[in-house]
Amino acid sequence: MGWSKWRAAFIFGPLKAQSKLSVFFTMLLLFTYLFYCLNGYCDSLPTPVYYVHRTVSHDGLRTEQPGARNVSSASSVRQQPLNRSRSAAQSAGISIANSFGSKKFPQAVIIGVKKGGTRALLEFLRVHPDVRAVGAEPHFFDRFYDKGLEWYRSLMPRTLEGQITMEKTPSYFITKEAPRRVFFMSRHTKLIVVVRDPVTRAVSDYTQTLSKSPGLPSFQSLVFRNATAGLIDTSWSAVRIGIYAKHLESWLRYFPLSRFLFVSGERLVTDPAGEMGRVQDFLGIKRVVTDKHFYFNQTKGFPCLKKPEGSSRPRCLGKSKGRPHPQIPSEVLLRLRDFYRPFNLKFYQITGHDFGWN
Ligand SMILES: *[C@@H]1O[C@H](CO)[C@@H](O)[C@H](O)[C@H]1NC(C)=O
Ligand SMILES: *[C@@H]1O[C@H](CO)[C@@H](O)[C@H](O)[C@H]1NC(C)=O
Ligand SMILES: *[C@@H]1O[C@H](CO)[C@@H](O)[C@H](O)[C@H]1NC(C)=O
Ligand SMILES: *[C@@H]1O[C@H](CO)[C@@H](O)[C@H](O)[C@H]1NC(C)=O
Repeated sequence: MGWSKWRAAFIFGPLKAQSKLSVFFTMLLLFTYLFYCLNGYCDSLPTPVYYVHRTVSHDGLRTEQPGARNVSSASSVRQQPLNRSRSAAQSAGISIANSFGSKKFPQAVIIGVKKGGTRALLEFLRVHPDVRAVGAEPHFFDRFYDKGLEWYRSLMPRTLEGQITMEKTPSYFITKEAPRRVFFMSRHTKLIVVVRDPVTRAVSDYTQTLSKSPGLPSFQSLVFRNATAGLIDTSWSAVRIGIYAKHLESWLRYFPLSRFLFVSGERLVTDPAGEMGRVQDFLGIKRVVTDKHFYFNQTKGFPCLKKPEGSSRPRCLGKSKGRPHPQIPSEVLLRLRDFYRPFNLKFYQITGHDFGWN
């Protein structure tokens, strides 16, 4: 059918057929060329490399190269010496790592909470080939919002089709403006919150601060506004962060509950593979990170990652467990537990999940 049509076109409209043919051959040439370039064979041809890059990853390039007309600067994006003795596979690998894909806004953000296990979660996720994440905490939606969204995007790693861009900054969860700002970036952003018993979280938070400033007043002198009346000081950040229900309510003014995943910091320790399964399902990626990736370090008493990304040292949870823990009177902790109880119950009610902290 197609052939006879083609022949008819050739006979009755030679000019039309000719133009079709030339389009066909141009396309063929282009695709052949593209194929070779993708394999790193045309490194030494600056102008076409520039052209191909514009085609393959124009999105990322436009943000990085404001003067995109400048051929020499565009070809330098490859950051690759033109060394012909390097194998094609090697150079293809390098150019993929350096300049393929584009920088996108994160589709998923770990927004909290401090000392909940967010670092461990992100490191566990980075094992997944479909997850690309910023290593450091960008603090965009709390501290650096005035730098603008394009600055934020420039921090992101390049991703290919089907890969998810992620970042984690635990202070977002308690930042008043963060929900509105994240919503403004994208209302479809997936939000992950790692939560942990607020009492142990507060102690862990205090212990970390103490290790950095040894002259810190005692936990009990900071936790009370009035010790005789047993009034808890909710303005102290170590206490305030743990009032999860209150912070969550301000996020729910912008995002529906279905956009959130609450990861149990406790379960991340006792059953890392199980919790990672939930996270991967939520992100819509294959369950690649499984129990095969973890081992339990008996001396540490915590799970570790077998082969952490880009490092030879094992990644373990409970990294700060070696720190000397301050002696906190049990009645102080009991009082704090009483304080959190109604907020915890409210949090269970909103999320529909009992985290078992009481
Ligand atoms: C092109 O880029 C090079 C290297 O970045 C720079 O030195 C040169 O001034 C640029 N030229 C123009 C016209 O932007
Ligand atoms: C090219 O690569 C070879 C082998 O890796 C190396 O010995 C040589 O110094 C390189 N040349 C340049 C100009 O980088
Ligand atoms: C602390 O509470 C007690 C008992 O309610 C009260 O008598 C006292 O004045 C309070 N102290 C301060 C500094 O508010
Ligand atoms: C387990 O943890 C201890 C203490 O941190 C460490 O010395 C040891 O090397 C770890 N063992 C393994 C197999 O990771």
